[in-house]
Amino acid sequence: MRPAATNPPPMPQELRQAALHWLTEADPSAKVAGVQHTWQAWLAQGPSCAPLDAAATLTPPTQRPLPGRPGRPRLVPPAAVPTRSPFTPEGHAALAHAIAHIEFNAINLALDAVWRYPGMPAEYYHDWWRVAAEEARHFELLRFHLQSLPRPGGGQWDYGDFEAHDGLWTMCERTADDIVARMALVPRTLEARGLDATPPIQARLRRVGTPQAMALSAILDVILRDEVGHVAIGNRWYGWLCQQRGLDPVAHYRHLVRLHRAPKPKPPLNTTARQQAGFTAQELAYLQQSL
Ligand SMILES: [Fe+2]
Ligand SMILES: [Fe+2]
Repeated sequence: MRPAATNPPPMPQELRQAALHWLTEADPSAKVAGVQHTWQAWLAQGPSCAPLDAAATLTPPTQRPLPGRPGRPRLVPPAAVPTRSPFTPEGHAALAHAIAHIEFNAINLALDAVWRYPGMPAEYYHDWWRVAAEEARHFELLRFHLQSLPRPGGGQWDYGDFEAHDGLWTMCERTADDIVARMALVPRTLEARGLDATPPIQARLRRVGTPQAMALSAILDVILRDEVGHVAIGNRWYGWLCQQRGLDPVAHYRHLVRLHRAPKPKPPLNTTARQQAGFTAQELAYLQQSL
């Protein structure tokens, strides 16, 4: 039998099957192009080109690993990823690579939210497809940036050239059986940490002040704007699910954080962005006191 990579299955048209298909795609360029093409086609033509079957229980294909990702970067424990200073050319490339890796994982996280959980309203699937397409754009912007940076000894950097860790996908696996935990701990915990982390990174980049540093800071402006929307989508569906199931959002969040050993936010909180993303005063007070 020929290897799966040289003989991919035909691309499914249904939106949740398409999400599973692109989740299992290992090649970053093919994943980005496939996600963006599917979402643009849906925006242009709607359900006539890509119907939605919210009720189906889907099964991942056995011949394609989940999630699909390239052989590089090599994945190592979080503590083994070296600290990155943007004040050297190589440190700058490592920082851009680390953020690109987060965005690559974020494409997978959004696609996983679409295919894995049946029985949600159509808007839920459309929201997460939009997130997947925006994450694909973020990854693409950072990869182009990396590819513009000269590498010692010749050539340019690319995605895969530095080691990376797998913390984001680990939380995806821990919450695979519980959509409430997924919404609580991936978008509104891990992605929300990105809202807090981005302005301090941009401040450091501005201190570096090179054209490359300013270009990366400008990319982070785009990402931060979009990420407020992603966290808002997480808050929207977490709130909706809590309401449906009669759960207190703050008390249940506290329970889920302990159950799944979710990381705490790192101060200072970006309260403006978090408020824009829909965190309530009560939720922000809980997060502040947990720091
Ligand atoms: Fe992103
Ligand atoms: Fe995101």
